[in-house]
Amino acid sequence: MLEVHILTIFPDAFTSFLQTSLLGKAVQSGLCAVRTRNIRDFSTDKHHSVDDVPYGGGSGMVMKPEPLVAALEAVAKIAPGSWRVLLTPQGRPLDQPKVRELARRERLTLVCGRYEGVDERVRAHLDEEISLGDYVLSGGEVAAMVVLDAVVRLVPGVVGNAASIGEESFAGGVLEYPQYTRPPRFRDQPVPEILLSGDHGKIRAWRRREALRRTRERRPDLFSRLALDADDRRLLDEE
Ligand code: ADE
Repeated sequence: MLEVHILTIFPDAFTSFLQTSLLGKAVQSGLCAVRTRNIRDFSTDKHHSVDDVPYGGGSGMVMKPEPLVAALEAVAKIAPGSWRVLLTPQGRPLDQPKVRELARRERLTLVCGRYEGVDERVRAHLDEEISLGDYVLSGGEVAAMVVLDAVVRLVPGVVGNAASIGEESFAGGVLEYPQYTRPPRFRDQPVPEILLSGDHGKIRAWRRREALRRTRERRPDLFSRLALDADDRRLLDEE
C-alpha cells in the first residue's frame, strides 16, 4: 500500500487523472491512496495568498514559505516519515531507477511548485528535488502526475502482468524491442517472419538484438552504460 500526499494550488487538476485508467484502479482497489491538499488553505493572510514579489526585484512571483511549510507540517502529522519531493526543473532528472526507489517507499509527499520558484528556505523542509527534464513547465502539477503514474504502476498488484514490467523499456537500461500485433501484413508492411515462427529461442535472440540496436542508434548515452556479455556482442555483430 502506497500513500501519496500532493500539495498543490490546483487540486482540481488531479481529479480526473486520479479516477482514470491504471491509477484509478489502483486507488479503487486500495493498492494506493492519494490525497491532494490545497496549499492556499494553509495561508493565513486576508487574501489567502501563496506567492509574493521577489526580494531584490525582478520579474515573476515567488511561492511564500509559510503556507507551503504549514502544509508540509500538516502532512507530517498524519503521515510521519513521508518522503518529501519537490517537483522543479532544478531537481535531479527523473529516470526509472529513481522511480523504482520512490516506489519502495510507503509514503510520498509530492510538492508542486508554481510561479517562478519557491522561497529558498522551503528547501530545508524537503528530502529531494526531482525534475522531469530540461524544459520548463508552468508548474509542478503535470510533473507530479508523471511521477505518480510511473511510481504507482510499480506497486505490486497494480500492473496485472508483472513480467511486462521487467521487459519494458529501461528495465535493463535498454529500449524495448519492436512490437507487432495482428494483422500479419498492414498496408505494405509485413510482421518480421521470425515472430510467426513459433521458435521461442530465436524470437528471444531477435528481440534482444533489436533492443540493443535500437538503443545504440537512438540512445547512445544509455548504450554506452550497458554491460554487454559475449552473447550480446555476437548478436550485434550479426548481419
Ligand atoms: N516544474 C516546472 N518545470 C518542471 C520540470 N521540468 N520538472 C519538474 N517540475 C517542473
